[in-house]
Amino acid sequence: MKSRVLLAPSILTADFSNLRQAIEQADAAGVDAFHLDVMDGHFVPNITFGPDLIICVRSLTSTWLDVHLMVEDPLRLIDRFVQTGANSLTVHMEACRDVYRVLDTIQQENCQAGVALNPGTACSAVIDLIPMVNRILIMSVPPGFGGAPFIRSTPAKIRQMHTLLQELPDSQRPDLQVDGGIDASNIREVVQAGANSVVAGSSIFNDRSSVRTNVNALREELEEA
Ligand code: DX5
Ligand code: ZN
Repeated sequence: MKSRVLLAPSILTADFSNLRQAIEQADAAGVDAFHLDVMDGHFVPNITFGPDLIICVRSLTSTWLDVHLMVEDPLRLIDRFVQTGANSLTVHMEACRDVYRVLDTIQQENCQAGVALNPGTACSAVIDLIPMVNRILIMSVPPGFGGAPFIRSTPAKIRQMHTLLQELPDSQRPDLQVDGGIDASNIREVVQAGANSVVAGSSIFNDRSSVRTNVNALREELEEA
């Protein structure tokens, strides 16, 4: 049996003036999680939202909230984000002074912990963290903006990380998530490379077709993967 792939829409490109509708439509389409991109204008050249908006999203849905913290020195903010009701917090390897301590702090607060790698960071950078994390996030665009083009070398990087993860028993293996530029043309490829959790923003929230149509198109591709 094929293992199920988790689909997590990033709300970054949703219409923020009607976030309730975006969340309801994605929930009705049966998504597995909401991916919430927090950007601080320092670690990445963009500013999005903080804990208060996540509290609003939490009030609109009981679906898993997967928070992607693109912020410098996230340790000082962990408490605030845990208190939003988020289910998982993913921090960037490149943004932490002591990444082990950050991940441990998140898990001590009964939240799942993930570590993200920028396109220029090698898989080997997280080898020692693999046994402790719940999720490894491979960025397939430079972090900072929705709608950026998918980096073509990403599937090879996912394969490399997938191979490293095989050394752990199934029950201890972290999820392998990919984020950035994912659409119906490349979702199969990243899943075949070993990703079991996929973030998609502009291919789900856009003006071209409905959220349900877009989610179904991605799911159809997953069926074939
Ligand atoms: C990029 C973010 C992604 C992104 C996803 O910095 O972390 O989550 O917004 O959106 P698309 O799928 O449009 O790249
Ligand atoms: Zn993200």
